[in-house]
Amino acid sequence: MQNIIVVGAQWGDEGKGRIIDALARKADAVVRFQGGSNAGHTVVVNGEKFVFHLIPSGALRPEKKCIMGNGVVVDPKELLNELESLHSRGIEVNNLCLSSNAHVIMPYHQKIEEIEEEQRGKNRIGTTRKGVGPAYQDKAARRGIRAADLLDKNTLSNKLRINLEFWESSCGLKFSLEGILKQYLEYGKKLEKYIVDTSLIIHELVKENKAILFEGAQGSLLDVDHGTYPFVTSSNATAGGACTGTGVGPTRIDKVLGVAKAYTTRVGKGPFPTEIKNEVGELIRKRGQEYGATTGRARRCGWFDGVVLRYAVRVNGLDGLVLTKLDILGGLSKIKICTAYRYRGKIIEDFPSQAYHWQECEPVYEEMEGWEDDTFKARRIEDLPLSLQKYLNKIEEIGGVPILFLSLSAERDNLLAMRQDSASLLA
Ligand code: IMO
Ligand code: MG
Repeated sequence: MQNIIVVGAQWGDEGKGRIIDALARKADAVVRFQGGSNAGHTVVVNGEKFVFHLIPSGALRPEKKCIMGNGVVVDPKELLNELESLHSRGIEVNNLCLSSNAHVIMPYHQKIEEIEEEQRGKNRIGTTRKGVGPAYQDKAARRGIRAADLLDKNTLSNKLRINLEFWESSCGLKFSLEGILKQYLEYGKKLEKYIVDTSLIIHELVKENKAILFEGAQGSLLDVDHGTYPFVTSSNATAGGACTGTGVGPTRIDKVLGVAKAYTTRVGKGPFPTEIKNEVGELIRKRGQEYGATTGRARRCGWFDGVVLRYAVRVNGLDGLVLTKLDILGGLSKIKICTAYRYRGKIIEDFPSQAYHWQECEPVYEEMEGWEDDTFKARRIEDLPLSLQKYLNKIEEIGGVPILFLSLSAERDNLLAMRQDSASLLA
């Protein structure tokens, strides 16, 4: 069977959740490998909407294993709330595993994030304020608290003391050790049954030739190394993160798929060359309900950016693309697509090497015919309007990557396989 990594090919919110849910039908396990509750992955089944922040988006299929790997940062309170909220809606997540090495988000992490964002002033990143960045800071500084530490009072108490002392001396933060200790030991008790060596579980699955889906969070352009630094998240959201974030070797991966919207959105600050700052942008935001699934913030909207796609294909080694939200562009008479940038008088097809120069890039557009807004009804490729087919061909040509699926509405089954081999991934 196939092990597939699914990553966001833009700045997050591409519709990864619905693709994971669809591909999970034929998988045995779904694994989150980075990020934390900054993610918001939406799945719609029979009009009912589920948003996953930490739990893998395979959770609506009860027989699948849901694994949170070592690369994830977990807020125990959010995880327990998410389990509880699913339970209250009749969904039991029986097969959940949490890596003993996953780092834990502590109450002071959110506070630190607030302070850091304030200090950045007009250069603030616009983070989700879930404590994700500071938790990764502690991880890299080698004082982080990991899931397994919640199961041992002495270890937790010692580590907590070191952390509180550090953050008090550097930020003046004061937190009660006793209060946090008590609370997090309680979380530990509740989560104990899930905390395991997930790398070993994944290894067993690989040995048994099971199919594993690796669910990326955020997007390639938010990757801490490859994204629009410093306006990025703090983990590797590109395909390589699936290996480091789970302990699976690169030779065990069969395919890497990217998910992209038919247009572009971005939440928070940072370069966004194809942003549309007029009523068309407003229209797309309204029609696409482009408001954050995690923070409720309005997303910035823009045209499809071919330079971003080309870059995502390169840094992830994408084998195929899934294009979502095509229905939202329906009804626009003209659609623009960015094929290159104009930068300091030159036409360039890749980003300038310094991320802060990306601000200076101006998109070079090709204007294309739009299509009617009943596209979501199409059930076969032949049903798609010709102008839409041309748009898809253009995207494939710019990215040098085949489109495997189209998502024509948010509903679970409204996914159109564009090739025979992609159809076989679904059923
Ligand atoms: P999903 O998985 C879109 C953005 C934030 C901010 C930057 C850093 O739903 O696609 P952070 O809290 O991670 O330190 O914020 O990254 N961001 C996302 N944008 N989708 C996401 O996740 C995001 N997760 C973080 O808005 O600009
Ligand atoms: Mg999101």
